[in-house]
Amino acid sequence: MKFMPRGIGVSALAVLFVVTSLSASAQTKASHTHKARAWWDNAVIYEIYPRSFQDSNGDGVGDLNGIMSRLDYLRVLGVDAIWLTPIYPSPQVDFGYDISDYRAIDPQYGTLADFDRLQQQAKQRKIGVIMDLVLNHTSDKHRWFIESASSRTNPKANWYVWNDGKMVNGKREPPNNWISLFGGSAWQWDPARKQYYYHEFYVQQPDLNWRNPQVRKAMYDVERYWIHRGAAGFRLDAITSLFEDPSLANEPYVRDENGKIEINAYGDKEVDRSKTDNLPEVNGVLKQLRQAADSTSDPKWGQKVVLIGETYVGSIADLRKLYGPHNDELNLPMDTQVGFINKLDAAVFRKKITEAETDLNGNEPLFVFDNHDNPRWDRYSDGTHMKEIGRMLAAILFASRDTAMMYYGDEIGMQTTPPTRKQDVRDPIGIRGWPKEKGRDGERTPMQWNSGPNAGFSKPGVKTWLPIPNNFITVNVKDEVRDPDSMLNWYKQMIALRKSNPAFRGREMMLNTNNNQVLSWLRQAKGEPAVVVACNFTAQPQTIGFNLSAYGLHSTRVKTLLKSPGTDDPASLKQVKLQAFGVYIGQVE
Ligand code: NOJ
Repeated sequence: MKFMPRGIGVSALAVLFVVTSLSASAQTKASHTHKARAWWDNAVIYEIYPRSFQDSNGDGVGDLNGIMSRLDYLRVLGVDAIWLTPIYPSPQVDFGYDISDYRAIDPQYGTLADFDRLQQQAKQRKIGVIMDLVLNHTSDKHRWFIESASSRTNPKANWYVWNDGKMVNGKREPPNNWISLFGGSAWQWDPARKQYYYHEFYVQQPDLNWRNPQVRKAMYDVERYWIHRGAAGFRLDAITSLFEDPSLANEPYVRDENGKIEINAYGDKEVDRSKTDNLPEVNGVLKQLRQAADSTSDPKWGQKVVLIGETYVGSIADLRKLYGPHNDELNLPMDTQVGFINKLDAAVFRKKITEAETDLNGNEPLFVFDNHDNPRWDRYSDGTHMKEIGRMLAAILFASRDTAMMYYGDEIGMQTTPPTRKQDVRDPIGIRGWPKEKGRDGERTPMQWNSGPNAGFSKPGVKTWLPIPNNFITVNVKDEVRDPDSMLNWYKQMIALRKSNPAFRGREMMLNTNNNQVLSWLRQAKGEPAVVVACNFTAQPQTIGFNLSAYGLHSTRVKTLLKSPGTDDPASLKQVKLQAFGVYIGQVE
């Protein structure tokens, strides 16, 4: 996992857990408390990296009109909302996560009028547009920062995190050992102001001072601005790191099992981020963001606005806190504990999915396997059963009780394609960390629409901002539409099933919890036929039998709803045969 160098990453924590399984009655009790339904419950949210989705004007970079031209594709796939990574004006040092104006569109993506049309066209297809709100930092080219850096007395002097540093042997040094997630000290000396400023990410991304009420107000105004333009919600970037400990105390170093300080890909001593991440003050801001969202209605979207958090936290208890004690904070803090286990271990998946079902106060979990910061789903592959594993991951995502977040290209099986030479790297963390850290280009390559020039992403002959992966000849939308066994058709069927079969709106209970080869679960909604889902986590065929009498189901008759290609229809629930990494989904008759 590239994007979780925060002390111990979630993936590392996941394997440390002792696996326990809850009794059926404990699961039942918790799942009866599920909250009233919102539009995002059971929804499919599709993340678009706008640079890479569809180029309409032939400059090699995707744009809003390109996205607009693909809305019917998304509608047919079954997408309820698209999340656009930042499309605001930006120097593009971090490809949009360095914003220089929160109320406009970067000309390379289009105009505000294009945005308005996109929002309307999407809404006509019942698709919401979720904006990426970057609250932790701005670009150093934002006028707020330019003003703040201009003197120690200007009106915005206190909008960022400034500090004199300390004198050591007559030399000025940063105030502490905090490091940037993107390498080097998190403090940058500003020669004009003669002070350091704090930046969690690149030097060009100074952190805002969230202890300043003016900063808060400015950002809540931005939130309202986009609601009035029709946003269906926000994905809140780096939301857990808005605050830094005012004591500015050093962060403890992370040590390996021999007690040696760990050194990260950039050569820095790894710190545990205890003074810069997950501070309790964040919850106060989440409440206010939520109040602003709930009290601002606009007919353009016309429904509630969803708040999604980028929340890489290490435990279910920490995740639960982000919904707020009265469910008055985030609607959907991203649950990275299931999707980023990064190892096909059925017991760990069982534990993590059960926790999401039982330990989130009945709130909807948001599962995600892929995004623009981490290697794609193929990180789970054993090298031989690529497609089978891809199908299985999709089954876990779409057959669970969750809001499902997917990343463009997952549905056709696009794979991570990192650059092979340093001179080709575009993501600055890849340039700085090469070769240990190759950056995030590999998961940001252009969408593969067909097997023609530039894979249909851009006009023929245009140099695309990142190269098109070689496998576009077979891994592309056009060819996969025609192949009944393609990944695209599997995704379509999975999503259609999730939406049409009422069992998928009901509770989720793990079955056969001592079986560590097969992960299986039951979906059950009141008064509706139950559905069994089984996933073979091994490269060997498996046979599994189910006794569902604990759930009041005494029949062993089952009707196949969906199965991996080549799987037999079982004669009864007593004997379900699964191929290597095979999936079986059946309705209990
Ligand atoms: C998280 C975003 O997903 C990532 O792409 C970005 O670099 C950092 N936040 C900084 O905004």
